[in-house]
This record gives sequence, structure tokens and C-alpha cells, in this order.
Amino acid sequence: MAINIFRIAALVALAGAAACGSSSEKSPWGALGGASGQGGTYGFDGGPLGLGGFTGMGGQTGIDGSTWTPAATCVERASALVEALTPAQRYGQMTTVDSYGLTVSEATSALLGSVFSGGSSDPAGGNTIADWTSLVSSYLDVAKGFAPHVGLLYGHDAVHGSNNVQDAVIFPHAIGIGASFDPALAEEVGRITALEMLGAGINWAFAPTVAAARDERWGRTYESFGEIPEVAGQMGAAMVRGLQNGRLGNGQSVLACAKHYAGDGATDGGKNAGDVTSLDEAAFRQVAIEPYRPAIEAGVGSIMVSYSSYQGTKMTAAKYWLTDVLKGELGFAGFLVSDWDALSQLPGAWPEQVETAINAGLDMVMLSHTWNAHSAADFASTLGALVDAGEVPVERVQDAVRRILTIKCEMGLLDGDTLIDPALTAAIGSAEHRAVARAAVRRSLVLLKNDGMLPLPKSLSRIHVTGSGADSLAKQCGGWTLGWQGLGTAGPATATTRGTTVLAAVGNALAATGTAVTTSGDGSGAAGADYAIVVVGEPPYAEGQGDSAQPTLSSTDVAAIAKVRSANVPFVVVLFSGRPLLLTDKYGVSVLDVANAFVAAWLPGTEGDGIADVLFGDYKPTGRLGFSWPATAEQIPINDGDGQIPLFPVGFGLTYP
Ligand code: BGC
Ligand code: BGC
Repeated sequence: MAINIFRIAALVALAGAAACGSSSEKSPWGALGGASGQGGTYGFDGGPLGLGGFTGMGGQTGIDGSTWTPAATCVERASALVEALTPAQRYGQMTTVDSYGLTVSEATSALLGSVFSGGSSDPAGGNTIADWTSLVSSYLDVAKGFAPHVGLLYGHDAVHGSNNVQDAVIFPHAIGIGASFDPALAEEVGRITALEMLGAGINWAFAPTVAAARDERWGRTYESFGEIPEVAGQMGAAMVRGLQNGRLGNGQSVLACAKHYAGDGATDGGKNAGDVTSLDEAAFRQVAIEPYRPAIEAGVGSIMVSYSSYQGTKMTAAKYWLTDVLKGELGFAGFLVSDWDALSQLPGAWPEQVETAINAGLDMVMLSHTWNAHSAADFASTLGALVDAGEVPVERVQDAVRRILTIKCEMGLLDGDTLIDPALTAAIGSAEHRAVARAAVRRSLVLLKNDGMLPLPKSLSRIHVTGSGADSLAKQCGGWTLGWQGLGTAGPATATTRGTTVLAAVGNALAATGTAVTTSGDGSGAAGADYAIVVVGEPPYAEGQGDSAQPTLSSTDVAAIAKVRSANVPFVVVLFSGRPLLLTDKYGVSVLDVANAFVAAWLPGTEGDGIADVLFGDYKPTGRLGFSWPATAEQIPINDGDGQIPLFPVGFGLTYP
């Protein structure tokens, strides 16, 4: 699908003041230190695209162009089931519990309608595919024993592939998929993700994030498809269609969960789980609510409520936004799940927290099981007492359970026990799936600068691949990869997965050519090579741990680039990052200025071959920025249409002749 939203702007010199370092530390740039202006010559007077003016993505909405509504038979079936369930069974349906530390007997006695695995919640034995199928099967077995038959939802954060499962293919994070501006790509990524999830019996994805991230300081910027709400909404809806395979229950389909409703990407200062105070209701609706509309039209069956607040009120407590606006005005007919232990963040004691959230319109609580004292049994007894006391109307509970069971009916979960298809298990991480991810990587790369060095020839005497990201799957994949904070981080400290780093990919690309490939991690060793590829970027992070007052390249990475530059070898910088980073260092040197070519590669995932495909010209770069690239720290937050002049505007991206 060709999208032509981009008014490529005139190149103007940015008259920014040089930000010279005040530190007494020696500049890694030698004579260059302090010489270059902030932002160099890459300021673009892009002018506003305007939030309302984004028209590029066409009106792909629901199935057959119509807004999804649940099948009448499912609503009837769910309503009848609600009547047949005991209060305890109803409360079990309204609960999902983190598998970490949960036991099968606890899930059985709590009559759980859902179990999920958080970012670092692995099966006890490890996280191989076999470990996962056996863990999930043990809970599917629990549900087999329930009468009446109510099925089981098994969730995880499949935000870039089935990313808790070792050797599953890891796709680019949403920021990279967004750079394609192609809903068909997002849909295909969702479809393959669903297949890989189902191979382990997992049928509920806590994805996509449909937030338009409006502040680069936010540690979850990379989970967003773009800063323009319409882009975030349309790409998110496409991901929903992919995950749900067009319509829930349509063969190989998992339940999608649009998140985090609403305002998570628009908090003051980009603070994770913070408060949105700078937007009035009209602006909040445009920026934070509108992205849900296409997802709802596409039939998203669940939505996760944000930890964040609007004007001081936690969304989990906001009846107006949950019930009046989302379920009322927007006509959302699926169910609302809380974020991880979000009730515990509400004012008051536990009974008040439960009362507030359920009366606000929450249908299912997500409990960590281990993090705080509130178990599924606590929730059931507390809600039961609130209903008995008339504090929570029984009709509210019936509505919640009806919504959940309606979606389970749509998914086919009421029709029989869920079985894991061994053919899908065998296809996890298959060559075919990896090929889709490799293509997604190619489409996600944004070429920001090229003095003619790219594409690289393949027949050379030597190419040098260096930098902290050159041989790092952890940096390449980012957060939410095996572990909550990424590969090799706390949780599964030994977590690894199968994938191809840039170094390996360059080796693959040149295997038949006789070109020597040398490497180092710190920029050394480039002298004498024909070209160097310097791969740098942020370490992996997730959620608030990624919040940063000044998202910038580390001094180690800058030093590596400076080292390559001093070797007088033409070089391309490949940047792994979860957001646009400030590219001018404390000596006033822009790494963009000193590099011959520069590629924003975001967090591309396991298929590094997609990067080599573009560097060596087998494919031309086509990615475009979904985010305004700030020239200076002072500009952040910077968004299309706000009157600031970014280093590069939304829509910017070069290609080869
Ligand atoms: C995150 C959600 C995630 C949930 C379950 C929360 O901390 O905010 O995005 O879906 O945990 O892992
Ligand atoms: C879990 C995540 C969760 C986070 C919340 C982690 O330990 O694995 O899923 O989002 O805690 O703080």
C-alpha cells in the first residue's frame, strides 16, 4: 500500500547554538571537539503535518469495512452462562493471575478464568518451547475440570512476537513497524505472532500498544507506532486484525488487548504511569482516546486500562473514561482488564480499591500473585462482600462476566477444550516466520544520512563491524524479550534466544565474496578497512526503567564512533534505540555530522539479516520517521505540528537512487 503523506521539507541550516562540554574530560574528537553546531546542518523546516491533517493511511477499519459487534448467539450464550455460574465462579472469571509462583491447585480452587505470564515470569524449569507448552497445558487442564465449561485465557505480553518464549521469532518493536507506515505489514506481523503464541497454547496477547507516544523521555516510546494518533490507531488496528486473524475464532486467532487506555503516552514529562495534566478534554480525546476507535472497529476483544492518570484521577478509577466514553460512546463491547496489580495503586484500602475499579467499569483484575498480598481468593471474597453489602451492584458483576464470556465464546473457547496444535509448536521460530521478520526489519530502517557511501559493495578486501551493538542481541531486541527488561537482564539472568546479530548478518551477506569481516566492541581496529559499520545504541529497558530525562547516546558509544572516525575509514552508524536520541554530544559534536551514513534501526529483534539486506543494497531503504527527531534536549517533548523545528520531521527517510 503506497502512502503518500510526506511533504519532504526544504533543508535549512539550523541556527542552533553549539552546546560545548563544560567537563574537563578530554574530548574523544580531537580537533573536532566543540567545533560543530548543535544539530549540524540537518534541521528541517518541516512545518506541521497537523494532527488532523494526517490522511495517508486510508480508512481500513473493521471486517468488511463495518464495525465489529459480537455475534448475537455469543451474547445469548454468555448471558445464559452468567446465570448458571455461582458467585465464586463469576469472580474467578473476573480474575487473571500471574503464573509466577501460582500453583495449579490455587488456580483450581480460585476457579480462575485466566492465567498470564508477566515479562519475567517463566516456567519454573526454564523457557524453552517445551517448558512453555507444559506450563500452559497444566492450566488448560485445570479449565477442563470446570463445570459448566468456561474455557481459559492464557495471556502474555506478545508485543514483538511471542516474546517470552525462547527461540520464538522476535520482530521489530512497534516503533520500527510504525516506520513502514504500512498497516499490511503490522497485520502480517500480528498474524505470525498469533501462530507462534498458539504453538505454546497462549491465546491472549497484551498487545498492541495503540498509544501515540508524545514524549521521547517515556521509557515505552518504542512500544508506540508513532507520535501521530491516527498512525498509532491505524497501525494498532492492523495489528489487532493480524493477531485476531480478521475475526476472533477465525481459525488461528488469539485475543488482542489494546493498551494502555488511555493517556499512557501523553503524561507530563513522559513519566511512565504518570499523570496527564497538560491536555484539556478535547486534546486528550484527540491524542489518547482516538487511537482506540479503529481498534474497536477492527474488533479488539479486550483493552487494558492504563496505570496513568488524567488530571489527577487514575484511569483505573475513572468511570467517565471507562464506562461512559469507552463502553458508551465508543461502543466497546469487549472486556476491560486492569494493568498488573493496578488496583493496589488506587486510593484507600483494598475493599475500596476493588469497589472503585469494578464500579468504574473494570471487568477483570490482573493480579501479580506475589508482588502484594492480594490473591485471587482475596479478590473474590472482597468483591463478594461488596456485592452482598450493595456497594457493587450485582448487575455490574453480571455485565463484566457476560463481556468476558462473550469474548470467550467468540474465540470458540466455550465449545471445547483448548488443544495445542503440535504443527504450530513445531513452527515456532521457523525459517518461514523468520523471513517475515527479516522483511519487517528491512522495512523498519530509516536512512537519515547518506553521503553516497551506501549501499556498500560486497566485494572488498575488509569490512570492520564494531560498536556496543555489533554483536548484541540484547541491544538489538530491547525490552520485553525473554525477560521483562530484555535478554540477559534480571529474571531469567541466563536468558538467550536464537537470532542473528549485525556482525553475523554481515558475515552471512559476504560469505561468498571473500571479503574479510573483522570486529571489535569499542570502535578499535577499523584502520585499514575499506569501510566500517558502527553499531551503537541503548541498553534494553522496559516501562519506567526506560524513562530518561535526556535520551542520548552513551559516552562509550560516542567514544567508539570517535575512534572509528580517527581511523579515517568511511563508516555508517547503525543506531539501536527505543526512540530518537539526541545525537550531539557534550562537546557539541553531532555523530550524524561525522558519520558518512546513518541508519535509525530502532529495536529490530532477532533478524539482523534484514539490516545487512539494506546496507549492501539488496533492498533499498523505505522506512520513514514516525516521530519528530529532536535537535536539542530543550525541544523535548516535540511533536508534529507544535511549531518547533526538529532535526528531522515525521515522515523523513532517505532511500538509494
Ligand atoms: C505493563 C503492561 C503489561 C503487564 C503484564 C504491566 O506492568 O504495564 O503493559 O501488559 O504488566 O506484564
Ligand atoms: C513483570 C512484568 C510487569 C512488571 C510490573 C515484572 O516483574 O514481569 O510483567 O509488567 O513487573 O512492574
